[in-house]
Amino acid sequence: PTPRLLDRFGRVGRDLRVSVTDRCNLRCTYCMPAEGLPWLPKPEMLTDEELLRLIAILVGLGVDTVRLTGGEPLLRRSLVDVVAGIAALDPRPRIAMTSNGVGLDRLAARLAAAGLDRVNVSLDTTDPQHFARLTRRDRLEDVIAGLAAAADAGLTPVKVNAVAMRGLNDVDAPDLLQWCLDRGYELRFIEQMPLDAQHDWDRGQMVTQDELLARLGERFTLTPVPERGSAPAERFLVDGGPATVGIIASVTAPFCAACDRVRLTADGQLRNCLFARREVDLRGPLREGATDGELGRLIIDEMAAKAAGHGIDSPDFVQPDRPMSAIGG
Ligand code: GTP
Ligand code: 5AD
Ligand code: SF4
Repeated sequence: PTPRLLDRFGRVGRDLRVSVTDRCNLRCTYCMPAEGLPWLPKPEMLTDEELLRLIAILVGLGVDTVRLTGGEPLLRRSLVDVVAGIAALDPRPRIAMTSNGVGLDRLAARLAAAGLDRVNVSLDTTDPQHFARLTRRDRLEDVIAGLAAAADAGLTPVKVNAVAMRGLNDVDAPDLLQWCLDRGYELRFIEQMPLDAQHDWDRGQMVTQDELLARLGERFTLTPVPERGSAPAERFLVDGGPATVGIIASVTAPFCAACDRVRLTADGQLRNCLFARREVDLRGPLREGATDGELGRLIIDEMAAKAAGHGIDSPDFVQPDRPMSAIGG
């Protein structure tokens, strides 16, 4: 299809990120409070059929990659069917998933058979105590098993995402890199963004790209990989390569100018940016009988209105109402 999701800055929306549930079985401190959040009521969530209809429309508008996120996407019971439904679209988009890895050991093979192409798994540390403190759950072994199952199922390249938190897991960065190198996983560190439900984010406390590079540089020799495209990570060859480590410096070096993302929440709201101040309701019109053309028009218009960037450093920055777990990573 001809790309139709164009904005004023010449960017083209091609990468659709779908939050299939806002629930999660971990409680990462940078994401949600210990008691969890008020989850979306079932009637507000898109059914599989509704979800697949919207994804099909978006693919018709030029989306070529669909990434399933959450909350924790594996908590959606019908996830394997959703993947199969996306894989049946024509043209078939690439299908990826961002998961915390808990339960992936049991599902990886079935997801791969249904058409999932690859996974990114969040793992912030391999130190069991630090893991338990950071996620408030004792599930490190499940995540490690999930990663291994993903690699076995061919969901490759398996990427590991790590948010670096001061005083919690920042000291573990070199060990985590060595651990990923030993297993062939591509590690990327992420600067923490102001998307936590508690609104505790503090620019001064954030572990920056520069700080991470310095810490990793004590044990490894890192050389920048030049080409980047729309990828969020700046990548570095480790000790001459071929393995790489990435840094997603969303705050200190935003990639907004090359952003090709579109987002759909579990309750059918379209977001043109992670930090968008408004959402466009697709579920309402969908349930009231809107045609594909009418829904497509709503999507095209909202993508055309996408802001130049997230503006985290601007004095009038406002953190979105929804936390990351409800928007989708
Ligand atoms: P691939 O590079 O294709 O593997 O995917 P990805 O890195 O986009 O996917 P993933 O879901 O693993 O995202 C990694 C991290 O990038 C997320 O945890 C976010 O911290 C960050 N990120 C994802 N999307 C955006 C975005 O639109 N804007 C910003 N600033 N950061 C984002
Ligand atoms: N800032 C940056 N990344 C975050 N993630 C969750 N919350 C934040 C935040 N505030 C990451 C998770 C996961 C992905 C979906 O987003 O660790 O890798
Ligand atoms: Fe769950 Fe992901 Fe939030 Fe951690 S970051 S609590 S794994 S949604």
